[in-house]
Amino acid sequence: MAGNLKYDAALAAFGEVKSGMKLGIGTGSTAEEFVKVLVQAVSEGLEIVGVPTSERTKELCIAGNVPLTTLDETPELDLVIDGADEIDPKMRLIKGGGGAHLREKIVAKAGKKMIVIADESKIVDTLGTFPLPIEVTQFGSKATMLAIEAVAKSLDLSGELKFREKDGQIFVTDEGHYIIDASFGRISKPEELAQALVALPGVVEHGLFIDIAKIAYVASSEGVKIIKQ
Ligand code: 5RP
Repeated sequence: MAGNLKYDAALAAFGEVKSGMKLGIGTGSTAEEFVKVLVQAVSEGLEIVGVPTSERTKELCIAGNVPLTTLDETPELDLVIDGADEIDPKMRLIKGGGGAHLREKIVAKAGKKMIVIADESKIVDTLGTFPLPIEVTQFGSKATMLAIEAVAKSLDLSGELKFREKDGQIFVTDEGHYIIDASFGRISKPEELAQALVALPGVVEHGLFIDIAKIAYVASSEGVKIIKQ
């Protein structure tokens, strides 16, 4: 069952957590399994301090008495553990299905090491089946959407671009921005796309994580495989 696989991956990755560590804590259903493991370990005496990547993760950590700090108080982290929407053979990721990829990327970059936890459904040959989340400023968001479309076209990418909604309303991120989900299908040159997107003024951050994660704990019914880049 996928729920158990997420827990399996989280539990296996927890083996990398040592007492005294400053930890970045991801967002999403797999990261929530990791929070459960952390809550248990803290109740048994593990001493860590965490930086949550979203308000949702923060709430869960507070409810479970996981000691927290902020990235401003603790700008360098030992380890960051987070989920992903897609993982390709070069450990390039799509993230942001939970709408937290801006904070997640900032936290991941502040970490000495980022570990991805996932079930095997997240492994892909080519990124892009999962719509790429692109966080944009509210101001001029439609103009930014058109600019994204133009940039994508210049890279031979096309597909539907949609403002993310939640409960019938446009979704607003923890940082107060919108998300455009871009259904490109196949992103054969993620580096080029990443560079082109960040060059657009209304784009705050995209969900392509390139050269950030070096290790993934991927759970299947056969067990948890550790993939290293
Ligand atoms: C949130 C993320 C998540 O890590 C990603 O969406 C995976 O989520 P899940 O573990 O629920 O499949 O990037 O912004």
